[in-house]
Amino acid sequence: MSDESYPHQYECRLLLKNGREVFIRPILPSDGHLLVELFNKMSPRSRYLRFMTNLRELPEELLHNLTHLDYYNGFALACLVEEDGKDAIIAVGRYSLDPDENIADLALAVRDDWQQQGIGKTLLLNIISIGKEHGISRFGSVMDPQNHIMKQTLLELGYQVRYFFRGGSYQVEILV
Ligand SMILES: CC(C)(COP(=O)(O)OP(=O)(O)OC[C@H]1O[C@@H](n2cnc3c(N)ncnc32)[C@H](O)[C@@H]1OP(=O)(O)O)[C@@H](O)C(=O)NCCC(=O)NCCS
Repeated sequence: MSDESYPHQYECRLLLKNGREVFIRPILPSDGHLLVELFNKMSPRSRYLRFMTNLRELPEELLHNLTHLDYYNGFALACLVEEDGKDAIIAVGRYSLDPDENIADLALAVRDDWQQQGIGKTLLLNIISIGKEHGISRFGSVMDPQNHIMKQTLLELGYQVRYFFRGGSYQVEILV
């Protein structure tokens, strides 16, 4: 990735409810090991809600796809803190555009010990706003029907949402 293609303008700092400050930036191809650490520190339930399957580890190919993005059809924001003198990714929000359907699939994951601090809401707002800048007007996600926290988050952000079943999975479409 060339320096010119890295979208610096989406870097920001966020003050959390607990008074800590975190750094949000676009994901980098070199973030693979930090994503593996995030995955390993997430509870099985959070991992399931994120991937909608019981993954025990992140397959290489998936890890590559999660970190090598064109910042246009695929975009991810990582939320970082310093832990034990090193960077740690504690949350990620991303979209991935399906050009045939013209809908972007959204995904969010916040490490369990950093939840309820406002990170999920901010990542969702920011990633949708970036998608809109890139001309995307439809966002969706495959969701567990019991994911009340995600439903509550979407409700509080004031988005118009539509829930439905397709191909055996429960999905949400967010109209922006
Ligand atoms: C869903 C998720 C991303 C929310 O992240 P978060 O950083 O905890 O969310 P926020 O702190 O921004 O909270 C958003 C809202 O959700 C609700 N909420 C969050 N945690 C909650 C909890 N444990 N119980 C009840 N409501 C909760 C609150 O209404 C909150 O709004 P508030 O600001 O009024 O308190 C996080 O729980 C997560 O990673 N879950 C596992 C993966 C997942 O479900 N991903 C989504 C599907 S792709």
